[in-house]
Amino acid sequence: MTVEFEAIGVVGGGQMGSGIAQLGLVHGLRVYLLDSDAQALARASKSISMSIQRLVSKGNISEADASAALQRLHCTSKLEEMKDCDLIVEAIVESEEIKKKLFIDLDRISKASAILASNTSSISITRLASATNRPAQVIGMHFMNPPPIMKLVEIIQGAQTSDETFLATKALAQRFGKTVICSQDYSGFIVNRILMPMINEAFYALYTGVATKEDIDTGMKLGTNHPMGPLELADFIGLDVCVSIMRVLQAGLGDAKYIPCPLLVQYVDAGRLGRKQGLGVYSYHKLPEPAKS
Ligand code: NAI
Repeated sequence: MTVEFEAIGVVGGGQMGSGIAQLGLVHGLRVYLLDSDAQALARASKSISMSIQRLVSKGNISEADASAALQRLHCTSKLEEMKDCDLIVEAIVESEEIKKKLFIDLDRISKASAILASNTSSISITRLASATNRPAQVIGMHFMNPPPIMKLVEIIQGAQTSDETFLATKALAQRFGKTVICSQDYSGFIVNRILMPMINEAFYALYTGVATKEDIDTGMKLGTNHPMGPLELADFIGLDVCVSIMRVLQAGLGDAKYIPCPLLVQYVDAGRLGRKQGLGVYSYHKLPEPAKS
């Protein structure tokens, strides 16, 4: 099966979905973008447009290509409008129950040949696929944050995913200029299996008073050559997303070492979700301008 993708659907227009939609647009695809929250959809559309304009100012694409790309964007609130899409990728909340419900709907509305992909960070692709009548065409397509910048896509074949689905998804990721790595379908796959316990440990270091947040981050940046410290990275990912992934690791791998740190859980309970909310481990609220005398 050689699929020449023309149109993709993206469900969820948050940090990840808007970036994935942008990738599709600048690589010549029609993109149908849906979010259950109208305000989130409007924000996504605005951020895609600003981001594509930035590509023009940097000389990465022409004004004409940018305008053509934006004309290929269809923001919608109706899943049915994705019926002709060749591939639909979901980037909604990291909850198995909610994702499964969506996959049932996607299976119902999409054309028979369509691939259904999940951008999940950790949830079993095999179980999401089982919610559909096309498990051979369900796959994990895990972009990194932010999708337009990060070079990697981790592809996860569920127990029933066909090789044709894998090759078509890999070809799409490569069309987006990404390097592909392949993971078996075990909780957390490759990247989060290794990354999240490190982030969780950084929270334990903060929780037990080993060091300040700044020293923990500086230690890992300068001591291990990471571009961001683990706490800073957790804020960037979203602390709610980090807790969800730790819980998936705990349930799927059954080891107490994956229990999310109480401090991380408490931040999420308090609504400190990271950069996207303006407050996480660090505060991202702009300080008020000093009063002019
Ligand atoms: P986000 O919270 O920024 O965006 C999620 C969006 O989905 C929201 O706009 C919400 O309104 C929408 N949504 C929720 N339920 C919906 C539904 N049933 N139908 C339609 N829209 C719905 O989350 P983010 O960070 O973009 O994450 C999305 C997915 O991507 C999650 O599965 C996450 O694990 C995964 N992911 C996240 C990364 C990160 O660094 N944040 C990195 C790689 C994957």
